[in-house]
Amino acid sequence: MSQPRKLHIKSYGCQMNVYDAQRMVDTLAPEGFVETACVDDADLVILNTCHIREKASEKVYSELGRLRIAKDEAARQGRRMKLVVAGCVAQAEGNEIIRRAPVVDIVVGPQSYHHLPQLLARATTHGRALETEFPVDDKFGFLAPPSRQAIRARGVSSFVTVQEGCDKFCTFCVVPYTRGAEVSRPVAKIVDDVRRLADNGVREITLIGQNVNAYHGEGPDGRPWPLGALLGRLAEIPGIVRLRYSTSHPRDVDDTLIAAHRDLQALMPFVHLPVQSGSDRILRAMNRKHTSQDYRRVIDRFRDARQDIAFSSDFIVGFPGETEEDFAATLALVAQIGYAGAYSFTYSPRPGTPAADMRETLSATEMDERLVRLQELIDSQQSAFNKAAIGTTVDVLFERPARNPGQIVGRTAYLQPAHVFAPPGIIGQVLPVAIESLERYSLLGTLADPPLRPALSAPLPMTPFQTDVGA
Ligand code: SAH
Ligand code: SF4
Ligand code: F3S
Repeated sequence: MSQPRKLHIKSYGCQMNVYDAQRMVDTLAPEGFVETACVDDADLVILNTCHIREKASEKVYSELGRLRIAKDEAARQGRRMKLVVAGCVAQAEGNEIIRRAPVVDIVVGPQSYHHLPQLLARATTHGRALETEFPVDDKFGFLAPPSRQAIRARGVSSFVTVQEGCDKFCTFCVVPYTRGAEVSRPVAKIVDDVRRLADNGVREITLIGQNVNAYHGEGPDGRPWPLGALLGRLAEIPGIVRLRYSTSHPRDVDDTLIAAHRDLQALMPFVHLPVQSGSDRILRAMNRKHTSQDYRRVIDRFRDARQDIAFSSDFIVGFPGETEEDFAATLALVAQIGYAGAYSFTYSPRPGTPAADMRETLSATEMDERLVRLQELIDSQQSAFNKAAIGTTVDVLFERPARNPGQIVGRTAYLQPAHVFAPPGIIGQVLPVAIESLERYSLLGTLADPPLRPALSAPLPMTPFQTDVGA
């Protein structure tokens, strides 16, 4: 039998890149590739890139500089290391990468990962390969499913892509260009995937998509199903105790999604609902297709359906033309809604997007100063939210042994990490925890009841469920 070849994959950007990285590993496993954490040992290195802000895409070129050294060293040892650039920078700047970086063997856009085995073969026989078309065939139909071992190694919580691409065209955003038009996977395919995950120990599913609540996949009745109906179907699958979805657009929150939050116990009361700005003038310039009042109304509908619901969001400060008054409207919106947490970024002009042609009105220093003010407000809300858990008893889904010996870590409904001293047999279970204290972002507590429910038949391996994201 031939030696397994080693694959090292590094992902930047959003949850979809994390998921895609796993699917690339799964697709290359039948080709004899096994994953390695060490770049220097690898026969194949994949950089799974993100184009969302300038800083994110610059990382590719600095990483390629480092990889050139690793590749030369491998060549000196008589090994041929192949280098692939995948992800959204590959899609947006494929030709430029090929031109600027001779070290790269293959450039492949997110819609073509199912062609990776053929691209590798082509690169071996014909030299470098570039594929950044949006093919007509659906990659979801072709990507290999994960093996049982792979699922078990990845832990109790899993992403599943249900929708990809975006038709919203916010004026600052590259996603509609890098991920293409909105495509939804059929319900039956998603049900199959989730069943397979559940049968192998997965207890929590996060449905992902760039615009996940625009989901309209074909249902078993031949009609398009909205996200709320899909969630309802998935909640019936034995073993699935928690459902989440990300990322939603305020405009696509329909009654089925609100009803799902009211009716489905498995659907976690924590919603990431990006708003970007609190100023209607800026929201219009961003082409967000909603006002700040529309957003407040959507939040109210969620809150009416489920009182314990909490929200997170994304914000951009310093969009072209943002005045102090516009920014004050953002602060006022945050103060009114009250978030459990949020991501905030200074505006980064992206080539090819409409906003890149708008005149910037703020200096980098002014943007940074606004970002600090916004983050102080968000941090104070997050910290108040976390502190409010102390003295209460909350359900925690236990995921893995913690760094501290004897401790197991899991997550609350609001994704707060929670630590308890307990045997590893509790991994995979949702148990009530009496929260006693808060250490930075982590809750510490004790099991409120001894575990009554049986543990998983085999304890899951100790692989931490970790990601290298920071969208
Ligand atoms: N699919 C997600 C967006 C992914 S990008 C969604 O629709 O929410 C994640 C966040 O990055 C966005 O919500 C936005 O806040 C931020 N972002 C996107 N483009 C940006 C840009 N050009 N400059 C700064 N932040 C940006
Ligand atoms: Fe980008 Fe999200 Fe707007 Fe789509 S909805 S264009 S992904 S920010
Ligand atoms: Fe980045 Fe592409 Fe995701 S640009 S945020 S990796 S969709």
